[in-house]
Amino acid sequence: MKIAVLKETMAGEYRVAATPDTVKKLTGLGHSLTLETGAGQSAGFLDAAYKEAGAKIAGSASDALQKADIVLAVRAPSPETFQMIPEGATIIALFDPYNAKDSLSAANQRKLTMLAMEFTPRITRAQSMDALSSQSNLAGYRAVMEAAVIYGKAMPMMMTAAGTIAPAKVFVMGAGVAGLQAIATARRLGAVVTATDVRPAAKEQVASLGAKFIAVEDEEFKAAVTAGGYAKQMSEEYQGKQSELVAKHITKQDIVITTALIPGRPAPELVTENMVKSMQAGAVIVDMAVAQGGNCPLSKPDEIVDIDGVKIAGFSNLPARLPGDASALYAKNLLAFLPLITDEEAGLNLQTEDEIVTAMVLTKNGQTVHERLL
Ligand code: NAI
Repeated sequence: MKIAVLKETMAGEYRVAATPDTVKKLTGLGHSLTLETGAGQSAGFLDAAYKEAGAKIAGSASDALQKADIVLAVRAPSPETFQMIPEGATIIALFDPYNAKDSLSAANQRKLTMLAMEFTPRITRAQSMDALSSQSNLAGYRAVMEAAVIYGKAMPMMMTAAGTIAPAKVFVMGAGVAGLQAIATARRLGAVVTATDVRPAAKEQVASLGAKFIAVEDEEFKAAVTAGGYAKQMSEEYQGKQSELVAKHITKQDIVITTALIPGRPAPELVTENMVKSMQAGAVIVDMAVAQGGNCPLSKPDEIVDIDGVKIAGFSNLPARLPGDASALYAKNLLAFLPLITDEEAGLNLQTEDEIVTAMVLTKNGQTVHERLL
């Protein structure tokens, strides 16, 4: 198969969909790889390293796309780039499917098969392909790093001759993949950590990381998980109780990391304006859900908002702030996935009934086919 990898064009996107390591493995499997020049540069992977691994380097996106069967990308390409992709080719990326109207229509015009990495089912066999997990894990780590830098005090307790510094109190809201890594990272830095979630399974996971779990544990909480392992949208009554609990707790926190998401819906509002105003000056909130509307109504994408000394940081693409590792893991997710759509002669085989592949197909033969997008 001829596989093309382009330089990402979205602002602030420093990741790349292949690394010299995955290029070497893919060429070893019989595929031919062409990268647009500079595709990996912002992630620390130079053209020379890709060449050495067996890839060709093309001078432009359109050259890289010549005769491509498959395009590997981190994000949806620009509309102009879509027009350059050979008709009938397959493109695999993180498309943000619920907000991908333009990409879907561009892909359908070119009769492209779009496969969304976000829709990798959360089953054991697909774990190595799960890009949401690989990227959220790094994002959770980075959120704590960002918070630690913005916070004007130290994280660990320090006993010095000049006096004792108290450890930072960190509250993580949403204990999924990103939240659990945020908890682990904050603990490693010596913070005192509490966390909340609406899924009962989170309670034990939070405790196993040495943090205290705080949640409204009523009947609704016990049933707040979907078959896919995600959180449900909670009732207004539950949200009210949760808000009361959080309001009391948050006033004493130094750093709040919010990660709560509900697939296909806006992020739940967890930190209200009144809660922000009740916090101490110097406190920091990192809203990891800012790209999905935010867990705090005051957060703004890629800005640090100051409300009476409380700083609210809304990084919209945290994995791209660790482009080396994020690219390496994402490229490995793609490497693990490709055999599912490849036959023995390294040709493209999309006729598969594999549940992982069928869950990820957004468009086919000029039509949007995914049930969640119809
Ligand atoms: P996510 O990114 O969709 O959401 C982040 C967290 O926010 C979740 O833990 C969710 O329960 C929580 N949340 C949603 N609404 C909330 C609210 N109103 N208040 C507080 N918290 C709220 O979730 P993520 O990180 O993708 O993980 C979801 C689940 O999937 C986890 O249980 C994770 O362990 C599981 N998982 C399973 C995998 C597998 O079996 N292959 C792979 C990866 C994750």
